[in-house]
Amino acid sequence: MSLHVAAIDQGTTSTRCIVFDEHGAVVAVDQRELTQHFPRPGWVEHDAGEIWRDALAVTTGAIAKAGLTAKDVAAIGITNQRETAVLWDRRTGEPVHRAIVWQDTRTDAIIAELAADGGQDRFRAASGLPLATYFAGPKIRWILDEVPGLRARAEAGEICAGTVDSWLIFKLTGRHITDVTNASRTMLMNLSTLDWDEELLAAVGVPRAVLPEIRPSVEIYGQAGGELAGIPVAGALGDQQAALFGQTCYAPGEGKNTYGTGSFLLLNTGETPVASKAGLVTTVAYRIGDEAPVYALEGSIAITGALVQWLRDNLGIIDSADEIEALASTVDDTGDCYVVPAFSGLYAPHWRSDARGVICGLTRYITKAHIARAVLEATCWQTREVAEAMRADSGVELTELRVDGGMTVNSLLMRTQADILGVPVVRPAVPETTALGAAYAAGLAVGLWPDLDTLRSHWRADVTWRPEHDRDADYVKWRKAVERSMGWVD
Ligand code: G3P
Repeated sequence: MSLHVAAIDQGTTSTRCIVFDEHGAVVAVDQRELTQHFPRPGWVEHDAGEIWRDALAVTTGAIAKAGLTAKDVAAIGITNQRETAVLWDRRTGEPVHRAIVWQDTRTDAIIAELAADGGQDRFRAASGLPLATYFAGPKIRWILDEVPGLRARAEAGEICAGTVDSWLIFKLTGRHITDVTNASRTMLMNLSTLDWDEELLAAVGVPRAVLPEIRPSVEIYGQAGGELAGIPVAGALGDQQAALFGQTCYAPGEGKNTYGTGSFLLLNTGETPVASKAGLVTTVAYRIGDEAPVYALEGSIAITGALVQWLRDNLGIIDSADEIEALASTVDDTGDCYVVPAFSGLYAPHWRSDARGVICGLTRYITKAHIARAVLEATCWQTREVAEAMRADSGVELTELRVDGGMTVNSLLMRTQADILGVPVVRPAVPETTALGAAYAAGLAVGLWPDLDTLRSHWRADVTWRPEHDRDADYVKWRKAVERSMGWVD
């Protein structure tokens, strides 16, 4: 049997493929940046055709860089940006609209209309989610409402809808299916039955005929064709669930935080969904074949790494994202300045679509270095907010935080995170945990790895940052700044 697995990681800003060996070590990587379309304030779109072309190109690219051919690859696993809605023609396989990205806020009128009848937590019991523009179902409804004639075609079974996993699996294998973790982000799936929920479908306005079949995260979905002919497509997880899986958080009480465009703290809560009272999301963590599903509590933060990009692209304070650490290190603190990046409103634990970004505490003393430091601290404070909500909901005391994602190369950020949380922060030896999780799912499905214990044995700590300074007093300031970001939009 071949001893390599290819993981496609289709993220918000790039599409990558990583080939792993049987020890979970990275053998080769190929990557393409994804074009971002911002047609109006609050709107964010991707070209699903570009996503597919890039996914194919990086997969063949990574396999070639590894010195392998398709027959040497045991399986393909998929992980993806979640909640992004794609609609396509079932017969031609062509998208019928640009993909609406998870950050997009155009569904705010639909969300307000749904919340008017039962409040923001109207669908929490069934779906685990608060009403917010973040989730995919209302985005599907928006496209069906806006494109002339599309709803009738959807009801006649001519149109497929799905999240990015579903789109890629369709293009690779011809099957219209989705993995259960991605389905749990649509606000259309019932968390207990793991099937589309008739009441949710009717309320949100999405016909069942347009939706994929919901399958486990670890399962052979089909064989790829074309240049990848013969490789089983054998696992899929939303990217945050994939990072949890790659960090081998398989026991209740184990969790991780991934620092990407946004940040997402997930805690494994075992086989029973835990309802959140503190503003978190209840979600499916993974499901291995016919085994019982495993659930997680999630603190979703919309903007963390994207704030650094904003500093680079919109303000020009830095030329590249990695310059921020050096700039922020030229000062000892933020000069009492706080940046709240509520660009898409605030997600967990506040769920306030009326919030917008603010910078508080400006004086003539403040330089771009203080702002850079406050930008980094914004990620740490937001993480503290969701960590506190996690403790309130689960009763589990955080004793250390496993971290991964692009921003974890920033030692100042990680050190500050340890101070602000008051617990050690641990980065693993393989920081590519999102892709690794998808590789693990696919490798488990085809028998490359026998069980979860084998995967656990691969995990190694690389760096641990321990708390050195108590930052509790500053947390009070941060919360005042967050209050000021709320209520900006009607
Ligand atoms: O929920 C959104 C999340 O899946 C996006 O992740 O890493 O592409 O920013 P990322």
